[in-house]
Amino acid sequence: MAKISVIGTGYVGLTSGACFASLGHEVVCADIDPDKVACLNRGEIPIVEAGLEALVEEAVEAGNLSFVLGAASAAAEAEFHYLCVPTPQSEDGSADLTYLKAAAAEIAPVLRPGSVVVNKSTVPVGSTTVVAEALDRDDVFVVSNPEFLREGTAVADFLDPDRVVIGGDDQDAAVRVASLYAKIAAPILITDPLSSELIKYASNAFLASKLSYINAIGELCERVGANVDDVVKGVGADHRIGSNFLSPGPGWGGSCFPKDTVALRRIAKDAGYEFNFLDEVLNINEEQFDRVAQKIANSATSKKVAVLGLTFKAGTDDLRNSPAIEVIQRLIDAGLDVCAFDPVIDETALEKSCPGLAVSLAADPYSAASDASVVGILTEWPEFAELDFAKLNEVMEAATIVDARGLLNAKLLGRRGFRYRGISS
Ligand code: UDX
Repeated sequence: MAKISVIGTGYVGLTSGACFASLGHEVVCADIDPDKVACLNRGEIPIVEAGLEALVEEAVEAGNLSFVLGAASAAAEAEFHYLCVPTPQSEDGSADLTYLKAAAAEIAPVLRPGSVVVNKSTVPVGSTTVVAEALDRDDVFVVSNPEFLREGTAVADFLDPDRVVIGGDDQDAAVRVASLYAKIAAPILITDPLSSELIKYASNAFLASKLSYINAIGELCERVGANVDDVVKGVGADHRIGSNFLSPGPGWGGSCFPKDTVALRRIAKDAGYEFNFLDEVLNINEEQFDRVAQKIANSATSKKVAVLGLTFKAGTDDLRNSPAIEVIQRLIDAGLDVCAFDPVIDETALEKSCPGLAVSLAADPYSAASDASVVGILTEWPEFAELDFAKLNEVMEAATIVDARGLLNAKLLGRRGFRYRGISS
């Protein structure tokens, strides 16, 4: 088994480190934040990821996972060095590689000859060269190994991936990285760095395109009077399209899709190709936020509206680029008083991620809905399908539900005295 250093302990770095350790490798994870390192050394996992806490605990117990402060101290003994640092979106839409270059520069002096530095973070096409220049070492290799981890299911996505993609100019270095995944039963594609980096962006932008397309079809269903659930079922039945990742919603968000779709647009522009299609994918997503906010506002018969769900999707505590926040902002701008509830978000988290957002936070769904004339469901938390709807009806001033996630049964709610509006009704 191999010695691996993982630089950055966010949901990609911590998940990758813990999963590599569970595969038997010896892993040292490093972070720049002393509080985060102390928290991890206390066995506290600062992110919501199914199965991660148990994996970390087991690997720390087994002695093949540890946490240190600073990239250099992790890299000193390792053969493989995974860069899992943030690559945020810059003003001009390109990915900001400041952290990536800083991490490379920090480990460069301590790298053993023959080491392999691996880009796991989502980086623009051509970043392997950028990292090689930052390392300024001709006796180490740089390889691209993009992550395809969805928040909330990152452990499952790492240990049971659809594919592992590795991009290296040096074939031997690429094969050495591939060997780290020997225990994982998934196809391994070894290609060049540029192709590997582009696969990541092309995949995310395609998934975002698929969602914008089905959201536009949802709008069209409402306008022509078609049944969106049946249309989605009929379209998804074609194996070339597939029913996965085809659920209309309030729009797509998160820390990756918006950033990666804009970044791909920029990468294409810098390469002299105007990828106008992606402009429309992004526009439709903005329009979807408008549509859902409009649907809630039009259903309101008083100033107070309630929103259930703040995170960008269920199973995570991430508010970054959340469609729910986009919709709430539009409702506030329309002069409505918004009260929200989310099972994993408290005032502190909301203020940290969305400072100054003029929404009140309730302790439970019924308090949020109290005296509201409409409840909007914006995140598909399973508990929202199990609400006591008789009690909900009782506390609301008027009983309209806008279900932007297709979570509830329209007929059942009709029988409970609710006016139900779905994403296309
Ligand atoms: C995404 C990619 O899926 C993953 O491969 C990549 O590595 C990181 O970015 P993530 O951002 O965690 O993962 O979220 P994902 O589960 O892909 O959902 C993205 C957005 O699409 C969410 O807002 C989600 O609610 C929305 N979505 C997803 C839909 O609206 N409908 C669907 O059917 C699926």
